[in-house]
Amino acid sequence: MTTEDSETAILTFLSASPETVIEDTYPWSQSSNLDHKTVVGAIKSLLADQYVVVENLETSFYAFTEEGQSILDNGSQEILVLKALNEAGKLSIPDLQAKVGKDVAKIGMGNCMKAKWIKKDGQDLVPVAKEDEVEDTVRKQLQGLSDADFKIDALSDQDAKDLKRRKCINLVTVKSHRVSRGPAYQPQRVKKAADLTKEMLDSGAWETAEFKPYNFLVLGEKVGGGFLHPLLKVRAEFRKILMEMGFQEMPTNKWVESSFWNFDSLFQPQSHPARDAHDTFFIKEPAQTVSVPEEYYERVRTMHEIGGAGSIGYRYDFRREEAMKNLLRTHTTAVSSQMLYKLANQPGGFKPARYFSIDRVFRNETMDATHLCEFHQVEGLVADYNLSLGDLIGTIETFFKKIGITQLRFKPAFNPYTEPSMEIFGYHPDLKKWTEIGNSGMFRPEMLQPMGLPENVRVIAWGLSLERPTMIKYRISNIRDLFGHKVEMARTQNAPICRFEDATSSA
Ligand code: PHE
Repeated sequence: MTTEDSETAILTFLSASPETVIEDTYPWSQSSNLDHKTVVGAIKSLLADQYVVVENLETSFYAFTEEGQSILDNGSQEILVLKALNEAGKLSIPDLQAKVGKDVAKIGMGNCMKAKWIKKDGQDLVPVAKEDEVEDTVRKQLQGLSDADFKIDALSDQDAKDLKRRKCINLVTVKSHRVSRGPAYQPQRVKKAADLTKEMLDSGAWETAEFKPYNFLVLGEKVGGGFLHPLLKVRAEFRKILMEMGFQEMPTNKWVESSFWNFDSLFQPQSHPARDAHDTFFIKEPAQTVSVPEEYYERVRTMHEIGGAGSIGYRYDFRREEAMKNLLRTHTTAVSSQMLYKLANQPGGFKPARYFSIDRVFRNETMDATHLCEFHQVEGLVADYNLSLGDLIGTIETFFKKIGITQLRFKPAFNPYTEPSMEIFGYHPDLKKWTEIGNSGMFRPEMLQPMGLPENVRVIAWGLSLERPTMIKYRISNIRDLFGHKVEMARTQNAPICRFEDATSSA
């Protein structure tokens, strides 16, 4: 029987007359062959829509235990023992136990002795009375209770206590209801619609349909939407920090670049080992880029071949074919050089600028626990008049302070496109050790001059990976747990939001 069946039964019962009531749902359910719990569920549902009104009832009554039922059916233990002894004349205790069972023998013997119905004769027990001469009080009490519909007042307090002690009865309390018609009573339940559907609109059923009221207290459903990958969370933080520092984001939505922008414009010689297929992924189709700004190309070629701006260049034959090769960019500095070229050649001429980007780069690396063939680079640059190395150090210090790293050390390094170049080491408060956290430098005049930037414009720049700080932040030691097809979805779903301790605000 379903809740709906019970609903129907209740409404039908109440349809007899406006005054009809269900006095008590408990006996009513029993006599209607319905499960009381289901009836109560149906009443709650009907009550919510005001089909019925209810009064709460609480009824206590006695119920037989298994033992109580058995006594009612077969007689008490003492009567069973007395019967057995009268049948046999006399019995030893083990024989009696074998005949009536251990439990019955134990309780029955005790009670028979107390009532002086039996006595001991050496090792044996002999009856003193006949079972039809004595009264089976317990059975009579139980019979009386059953006749009185198990009502509480059918037993005296003392009898109730005795029967409970003998584990014949239990007191049961049932919560039930008195049910009568409610203000919205109808003999049949009209199902209220929870949603306005297309079908209702098509058929016109919406005009007569009854709708459920909004339940503003119901808990919202868990939104099964997307989850941000930890790298994206850290990227969002870095982006916020760099924007706060006045940096503008560069358009890095292009993974394929020409060697010209990725290397040549950065004054990286064409014979540089990084330009080998062992380090760089070259594109097969299309293998060559379509165009480069020709005038600028010529100036870059000249810079490589014979130099300028006080430099003697690399003194080799610059090959166009090499410059035109397409590749997956090995660093976002390929975008920085295009942005600087634009900055130098924009209408109105050069204006100071601060740029940043956070995006993917590709390198043909041997993969291990900390290296993949692709990663994300965070890159920043400032182009302005007469900048010095001090400006670079200051800018880098401000940036790292904002992600909670206050102690920095700089180590001379080499990049083809920067001079001086510095590796950045930071004392990591989480790891409690010095680690390399980035690379930086001032772009060489050999790179800036062919672009057409004014002579006293200097460009300071730095770069770091996004993976490194993310792995430290989220305590991930193998990069394969962070990026790629082996990443556990749950890890992404449960990753907390990323917040960096800004050391500039507390200073
Ligand atoms: N392009 C460098 C790298 O790939 C990072 C860098 C950017 C270094 C700007 C100096 C200046 O590591």
